[in-house]
Formats: sequence, structure tokens, C-alpha cells
Amino acid sequence: MKLFIDETIQNYAHESTKAEPELLQRLAEKTRNEMERPQMLTGRLEGRFLKLIAQLVRPKLAIEVGTFTGYSALSIAEGMDDDARLITCEIDPKAQAVAQAAFDASPHGRKIELRLGRALETIRSVSSPIDLSFIDADKDMYPRYYEEILARTRPGGVIVLDNMFLSGEALRPHHADSFAIATLNRTIVLDPRVENVLLTIRDGVQLVRKKN
Ligand SMILES: C[S@@+](CC[C@H](N)C(=O)[O-])C[C@H]1O[C@@H](n2cnc3c(N)ncnc32)[C@H](O)[C@@H]1O
Repeated sequence: MKLFIDETIQNYAHESTKAEPELLQRLAEKTRNEMERPQMLTGRLEGRFLKLIAQLVRPKLAIEVGTFTGYSALSIAEGMDDDARLITCEIDPKAQAVAQAAFDASPHGRKIELRLGRALETIRSVSSPIDLSFIDADKDMYPRYYEEILARTRPGGVIVLDNMFLSGEALRPHHADSFAIATLNRTIVLDPRVENVLLTIRDGVQLVRKKN
């Protein structure tokens, strides 16, 4: 993932953001040491952003697409009330095992239900209205995930989508992933059902609110 923000500014933003709990710092380190593509992990800046969004939205039900080793799921869960539930899904059993161990070690882990399997199945299995979603897997499927999740989101509910610059490829799409992201950014900005802002956090974060 290519980052566009000047490295000095990026470091300044990191240092000027509250530190994540030690458990998450250890999880990030374990991910760097043991997993392929550790850069997929959201990290402090986006993780603290997700926690803050959860605190503001106060979801009863949240959904995450793409658990990886559980860093973003635990960040969201940290901002959720004790009786709230986060359903997160992952297709890689190795990542699932690391995530589940981290959830078991965290006081917020019992709010999280981790499902091994394809995201679309998980999304379609949800019957209650969704209050908050974080989409972070399988870029060519983003437009499908967006539509399926928006249809299940309550009015006023929030959807956060990661990698909406796709390392700059969203600006000059040339393959399935970049066409999907570019198309979705266009869809969202023209979508009368939602408010949005495309934030320049890391690789681009879409913050979308379903209108009342
Ligand atoms: C970018 S990573 C998620 C990072 C995670 N949100 C974090 O911040 O630590 C994307 C993950 O989605 C998983 N994935 C890919 N396709 C998927 C699918 N169709 N359903 C569920 N998970 C999928 C990948 O195995 C990978 O672990």
C-alpha cells in the first residue's frame, strides 16, 4: 500500500493520536512477525478513528468485512457498549485463529462474533438493522458489499470503507479492483440515500451515513 501523506506529517498524526491498548500493540507486533502482508492491519490512526466512530454511533449491531488478525475488530469493540455485538468475518483460517486468540485475551472480545467464511454469506445472514459497518476485504466486491450492507443499515447508520484510494489506483483504474473502487467512490458521491466524506486517512477512508 502506497501512502501519499508526507511521512513526517504521517508520524506527527500518529504521535498526536492516543496510543492503543498494550494488547493491540502486541497484536500488531505479532502480526508483523508471523503473518504475510502485515500492512493490511489498520494500525493506531485508523484504529483509534474506528473506536471513536463506534463511541459516537453507539451501535447495537456492527458488522466488519475482513477480520485479518482482529486489530480493527478490537478497536471497534473497544468503543462499543457492553451489550452491543460486532459480527466480523474472515476466510483465512490462520488469520481467524490469531484473531480469536486476541479476542479471548481482551475484555472487549466477548462483544465479537467471528465467523469463518465468505463475507457475502455473513452479510446476508444478518436480519436485524445494522448500525455500523467497516468494509475492509476483497476490493472487487466492494460495490456488492456496499449495496447489501446499505440495504440492511438503519437510517442514521454509518458505513466506513477502507482503501478507497487503493494506493492511487482509484484515480486511474486499470484492473478489476481499481475499477470497483473508482466506481464505488462515484456511486457514493452521487447516491441520494447517503451523506459522505472521503477522508485522507492512510489509503483513503470513506465515511458514509445513511440519511434518515
Ligand atoms: C485488509 S485485511 C483486513 C484487515 C483488518 N480489518 C485489520 O484492520 O486488521 C482483509 C482480510 O479479508 C480477508 N478476506 C478476503 N476476502 C474475503 C471474503 N470474501 N470474505 C471474508 N474475508 C475475506 C482476507 O483474508 C484478509 O485477512
